[in-house]
Amino acid sequence: MTTTVNQIATMRRILQKEGRQKSLGLVPTMGSLHEGHLSLIEQAAQECDRVVVSVFVNPLQFGPGEDLDRYPRDLERDVRLAEEAGADWVFAPRVEEMYPSGIRTTVQVSRLTERLCGAHRPGHFDGVATVVSKLFHIIQPDKAYFGLKDAQQVAVIRQMVDDLNFPVQVIPCPTVREEDGLAMSSRNLYLSPKERKLAAVIPQALDDATREREAGRLKTPQEAIKRIRDHMETIPELVIEYVDVLSYPELEPVPSIENRSVIAAVAVRLGHTRLIDNRIWSKE
Ligand code: PAJ
Repeated sequence: MTTTVNQIATMRRILQKEGRQKSLGLVPTMGSLHEGHLSLIEQAAQECDRVVVSVFVNPLQFGPGEDLDRYPRDLERDVRLAEEAGADWVFAPRVEEMYPSGIRTTVQVSRLTERLCGAHRPGHFDGVATVVSKLFHIIQPDKAYFGLKDAQQVAVIRQMVDDLNFPVQVIPCPTVREEDGLAMSSRNLYLSPKERKLAAVIPQALDDATREREAGRLKTPQEAIKRIRDHMETIPELVIEYVDVLSYPELEPVPSIENRSVIAAVAVRLGHTRLIDNRIWSKE
C-alpha cells in the first residue's frame, strides 16, 4: 500500500520510524508519470527495501514564459501508477510547503550548467539542484534514481553530490522510448497528432549518427553535429534549439569523438513543445 504524504515533518517522522537498517531509494519526479518514470521506480524497488517517489512540479526550475502553469498534473493517477511500480510512499508537498517564504538559498553548479539546456534555460539547473538537494535532506535516501533522458541533469546532480558530500548514490537509468523511438516525456502530451508523428525524426537522426560513428565515418564533433542537423532539417516544422557534441559527463568541447565518452544532445521545438534527446557514445 502506498501512502501519500504532503508534509515535510510527517515524511521525516515516518522515515525516522523506519530506522536506518532498511535501504531507502528516492525517485524525484514532477508527476504525470509515464513508463520512463515507472522504470526508475521499478529499478529502485528492486534495489532498495523502501522507495519514496516525490511528485513536485518545482516552480524554481521553470523560466518566465515556460510551461509551469500548463504542466500536466494528476496526483491520483500518479499515486496509483507509483504503487503498481513498487513505491512505498509518494511525497507530494505543495509549493508553500517547499518554499514557505520564497527561497534565498540556492545551489548552483558551475560550468556543467553553462552548456546545452543550461545555456538556453537560464537558472533552470539552479532550480533543479536546489530542489533535489532539499529532497535529499528531507528524505535522506541511500540511492537516488535519475533518467539519462536528462543526461545533463544526471551530470549536474552527480557533481553536486560529489562537491557537497551528500551520502547518496546517484543511479543513472536508461531512457525509455515509444515504439518509434521518441523518448517518453510528460511534454509529449502537448504534441498534436501530426507533430507527434514528425517527432520521430529526433531519435532517427541520433540513431543514424550513432551508426555513422560506429562505422568510423564521423570523427569530429563538427561532422556529427552537421549529420544530425541535416537529418532533422528535413522536417521544416521542427525548429532546432541546439545540436551539440561534448565530452560526457564533463560537457566540455573535444577535438575528436573517437575513443572517448561523448554525448550527442539535441533540443528542438515542434509547435509550442520543447523536446530533448541524446545519445551517449562511450569509449570503445
Ligand atoms: P521529470 O521530468 O518528471 O523526470 C523525473 C525523472 O524521470 C528524471 O530523472 C528523468 O530523467 C526521468 N525520465 C523522464 N523521462 C524518462 C524516460 N523516457 N526514460 C527514463 N527516464 C526518464 O526531471 C525532473 O522531473 C525534475 O527536473 C526533477 C529531477 C524531479 C527535479 O524537479
